[in-house]
Amino acid sequence: MATILAVGIATLDIINTVERYPSEDSEIRAISQRKTRGGNATNTLTVLSQLGHNSHWAGTLIDETDSQTIVQNLAQHNIDTSACKTLASGKMPTSYITHNQRTASRTIVHYRDCPEYDFASFKQIDLSRYDWIHFEGRNIAQTNKMLRYLKQTYPNISCSLEVEKYRPDIESLFSLPDWLFFSKDYAISQDQNDAATCLKQLTLTANTQATCTWGEQGAWLIDKNQALHHQAANNDSAIIDTLGAGDTFNAGFIHSQLQAANAQDSLRYATRLASHKCTQAGLDAINHNLTIQL
Ligand code: FRU
Repeated sequence: MATILAVGIATLDIINTVERYPSEDSEIRAISQRKTRGGNATNTLTVLSQLGHNSHWAGTLIDETDSQTIVQNLAQHNIDTSACKTLASGKMPTSYITHNQRTASRTIVHYRDCPEYDFASFKQIDLSRYDWIHFEGRNIAQTNKMLRYLKQTYPNISCSLEVEKYRPDIESLFSLPDWLFFSKDYAISQDQNDAATCLKQLTLTANTQATCTWGEQGAWLIDKNQALHHQAANNDSAIIDTLGAGDTFNAGFIHSQLQAANAQDSLRYATRLASHKCTQAGLDAINHNLTIQL
């Protein structure tokens, strides 16, 4: 199995499940509440760890009470935190999430007082041990330096970049990784109404391929020959929880690439894994009853 580093965030997720999404200035009761660790990079690692990989996280921890829940959860999932930077003051990123039972949608209000992980910390990591390095598309100037440094010092380590949200200058990163994982939110922010159009208008360098996920419609891929491929989502079972579905897609894609699958097979595997995630609450035990073959 492979050794994977993900650079990005860990959060405290406080998830209230409600019967239906509330209207503004109303008061409703939640049916249930759960608190767990979230954050895109660490969610992806949670899935990769359950798929059998050695998973390492590089991000910022704040020395405050909520970190304990986060660090404990990461330890339970065998996620190594030795590359993290710990700061004495601030607040761990916290997401207040309204999970609508009717539609399985998740609406997130996010608060943080936590500096981003920086290039100086990244440079101190012994990167030679990793088979794959995955980045969240945030903190653009510093991530740019990390990706360039990685390509210069370890050109053979595969790397991927998640592009979930628009951030100023994020396009400056697009030529650097081997894989770009776009989200529907990003495509919509660029006035693209579908994944295929979003992927087709990219000017990709020869070594970069890209995917774009689109909720219940599944996901699309543009390969090295600029050919587009689509994989439908599996909508046979009831959708229960979509929180972290995109992070699961990314994990599925990385996992299948590490098994030397071709791009189309990786698209199929990742989309099915993300569909499977939506049929359960959270990301724990995602490998139970998993019948998807590579
Ligand atoms: C899901 C998620 C949550 C977290 C939020 C951060 O993709 O990682 O776990 O609170 O997004 O943006």
